[in-house]
Amino acid sequence: MATIPLPQALLRPLAVPQRLLLGPGPSNVPPRILAAGSQQLLGHMHPEMLQVMDEIKAGIQYAFQTRNRLTLAVSGTGHCAMEAALLNLLERGDTVLVAINGIWGQRAADIAGRLGTLRAPGCRGAAGTWPAPEVLIHPPAFFPQGLARHKPSVLFITHGESSTGVLQPLEGLGELCHRHGCLLLVDAVASLGGAPILMDQQEIDVLYSGSQKVLSAPPGSAPISFSERAREKMLRRKTKPPSFYLDMGCLANYWGCDDKPRMYHHTAPINSFFSLREGLAMLAEMGLESSWERHRANCTLLCQGLRELGLELFVKEEAVRLPTITTVRVPKGYAWQEITAFLMKEHGLEIAGGLGPSVGKVLRIGLMGYNSTKDNVDRVLGALRDALQRCRRSRL
Ligand code: GLV
Repeated sequence: MATIPLPQALLRPLAVPQRLLLGPGPSNVPPRILAAGSQQLLGHMHPEMLQVMDEIKAGIQYAFQTRNRLTLAVSGTGHCAMEAALLNLLERGDTVLVAINGIWGQRAADIAGRLGTLRAPGCRGAAGTWPAPEVLIHPPAFFPQGLARHKPSVLFITHGESSTGVLQPLEGLGELCHRHGCLLLVDAVASLGGAPILMDQQEIDVLYSGSQKVLSAPPGSAPISFSERAREKMLRRKTKPPSFYLDMGCLANYWGCDDKPRMYHHTAPINSFFSLREGLAMLAEMGLESSWERHRANCTLLCQGLRELGLELFVKEEAVRLPTITTVRVPKGYAWQEITAFLMKEHGLEIAGGLGPSVGKVLRIGLMGYNSTKDNVDRVLGALRDALQRCRRSRL
């Protein structure tokens, strides 16, 4: 006999309030993508499903600007793609140089450590300190020095740091890595579709992103692609990758990226893939250049409005400002939690505080994909004006 009582909460209808998600992601999902995700299921090996996966692959190749055959979506969030990239590329004893310019570099270094790799220090700020924004952009000299000194087999770097709002320039980095016999691994979870990134032209060996930011699909599937150099390194592994679920050899086969018949590996999140397919289709219909321009223009409008409200942008230089997530310093005399709570309660609108090293220092406002509109710029500025009037605390 069942002895655990019925969970009363489950006997009530699911309650999901309407919110405008202008934090660092997830973004609101447009009706077309919601409709795609609510279609009836297919089996994960049905030919029609495999066709949807082929379309996703073509969409990722367009979004990443790559011809890489080993291009697919992992069944998980962008974080899962980070783990997949690191655990397939690295083996115990490999050296990895992690360029830490915010939380994602910290995470990559943590994962690499769990894999038993030797981590060359890549942090530019002393441990526990929070460097000034200009220090968060790795200057050109950092890379040749790090590569020559540590001889890593992989360099990890985040293109769009959602914790700081910094866009890391990548020009020349792929070529430099290759001259040093190193692979370039780039996190573009927060930047893909919002700022130019050209995988093949920039000689990036592994690139990944997420579904829930500019692609405006629900979290749960993550585009990833591997260059031929990266594929060859994985083929030379002496040991199997330490995860079956994320083993790129098995995933490549399931996604039709090798010459063998496609085999069952795991049950794919079918509806997440439907949504991702539509997110990629919408990006393709808009065109990458238009999408980059839309994010740039709305970010510029937002920054102008934030300055007019008397707020201080965290990233001063426009060239290295992430167009998808804007950071402002928490204004003096305010508690950031009160501002975010006020916006949620009074305006049904999410913006976020800092993350990892930026906690307590900044507020983060995301305008991504479907949410990157002039109307949303006006809404968040109006709501912030209200918050600045209502949340001031004289004792701070
Ligand atoms: C998640 O990506 C975040 O930046 O909060």
